[in-house]
Amino acid sequence: MTRADIITETLEAVAEAVGDPTQQVYARLFEAHPEFEQLFIMDIDGGVRGSMLQQALDCVMDHADGGALAPVLVPAARADHEGYGVEPTDFPLFFTAMRDVFRESLGAGWTPDMDREWAALLSELYGLAKEDA
Ligand code: HEM
Repeated sequence: MTRADIITETLEAVAEAVGDPTQQVYARLFEAHPEFEQLFIMDIDGGVRGSMLQQALDCVMDHADGGALAPVLVPAARADHEGYGVEPTDFPLFFTAMRDVFRESLGAGWTPDMDREWAALLSELYGLAKEDA
């Protein structure tokens, strides 16, 4: 299986296990970094949180597939987020919160292949987040 297959398999298994993981991902982010919760105070209907997770998932899928979107989008979004008060080094923590929730959601269904490919992908996304926008 390719990396893209393994990442797709993860996302499908998560959808089957817990449905939409949006609540869990933000709960995890705010548990690990309570200071981020107040940044979303204006997001009454959760629309911003939903779009943000969607874009982060697009970056994950694109990068797993060796696409051209993530290398452009990640540095650009990291630069935009400085305007929201998110430190550049904090920006990729959202990808870690996603992986942690997916791993927890799958329990024994989280495979060694998933563990390896998500670790590699996170490390590359952290690298992209350091690049110039
Ligand atoms: C710990 C990391 C992060 C924090 C604390 C954070 C925080 C925020 C906040 C506060 C907003 C709302 C800004 C506003 O409307 O005033 C926002 C919007 C957004 N974020 Fe993040 N962000 C993080 C990581 C990411 C990542 C990794 C991505 C995608 C690669 C991303 C994509 C987006 C997008 C697309 C929006 C706009 C959503 C919309 O308005 O529809 N964010 N983020």
